[in-house]
Amino acid sequence: MPDLDVVLTDVTGRDGFQMEKEWIPTDRKAEVLNGILASGVKRLEATSFVSPKAVPQLKDAKEVLARIDRQDAEIIALVPNLRGAEFAREAGADKINFVLSISETHNRKNVRRSVDESLEQLRDITEVFPPDQIILSLGTTFGCPFEGLYAVDKVHAVIGNVADMGLSQITLCDTTGMANPKQVTEFVRRLSADLPEQRFALHLHNTRGMGLANAIAGYQEGIRHFDAALGGIGGCPFAPGASGNVTLDDVAHMFELMGVKTGIDMESLIGTARRMQEILGYELPGQVMKAGTAKTLHPV
Ligand code: COA
Ligand code: ZN
Repeated sequence: MPDLDVVLTDVTGRDGFQMEKEWIPTDRKAEVLNGILASGVKRLEATSFVSPKAVPQLKDAKEVLARIDRQDAEIIALVPNLRGAEFAREAGADKINFVLSISETHNRKNVRRSVDESLEQLRDITEVFPPDQIILSLGTTFGCPFEGLYAVDKVHAVIGNVADMGLSQITLCDTTGMANPKQVTEFVRRLSADLPEQRFALHLHNTRGMGLANAIAGYQEGIRHFDAALGGIGGCPFAPGASGNVTLDDVAHMFELMGVKTGIDMESLIGTARRMQEILGYELPGQVMKAGTAKTLHPV
């Protein structure tokens, strides 16, 4: 793939659905995810293998994976521990996304462990899983709702513990949309300069309206992998004030208009976003799904 194009990982099935209070039947989850894949998305974070008490909405993780028409897409599942990693592998996930927060407070609230204990858990997982099948998502990279904004040194120090593991990707997650474009530029520039072998991705939330601007800031510094959720749903249930991921349809539309290829068929994706809105039964934050693409002409 030419260097200027981007790979978008859809996280609707995981970050999106985990925040939904009303039970979404497994068939409806699969319908949405299969619709997303049919529009050309090649990486799908479909669900989480976490405690069903922590996230009841995703207790059907195994059944969801079984119903995905994966075609040639890579299927990813989030895991918080070794046990989840084993479940994910049994269920047929291609990759696992291990989550660990830069914030000690958020990590304890999210996975009930200290950051060091989570790092220990990651080491245990790398003994069982090839590192190139492991993505590390660093929650609250830019700041934490309990601890405030961070400087890049704090993140650098945590990555120092994993830099030699040969992980498939490290995703810098702005869990509650606190980052601004200047901060994203600074973090990505410094981390990619210091760790040129490491593939970094951005996982952005639009909580304060800075999501697309942050994506562009990251793109300009060389980031080519982004997470996003259909219709802009999502958020971490263990972070106060959390709200939607950056919208997959809006991100794809923006890049495509800029001539940056995503491999996604916009009309097909918008159709699935509108269908998901019907299933969820409330107005979704996505904007292109309301207005149509900038190339859609109206009758005079
Ligand atoms: N998948 C399914 N169940 C799991 C599990 C996993 N990966 N890991 C633990 N469990 C179960 C245990 O069997 C136990 O069940 P029981 O109460 O019926 O005996 C229960 O969860 C608690 O297990 P324990 O090891 O004591 O974990 P804990 O209470 O310290 O919770 C986590 C730790 C990590 C399991 C839990 O906090 C969690 O799942 N967090 C995920 C949070 C999340 O998804 N956040 C959003 C994404 S960023
Ligand atoms: Zn998120």
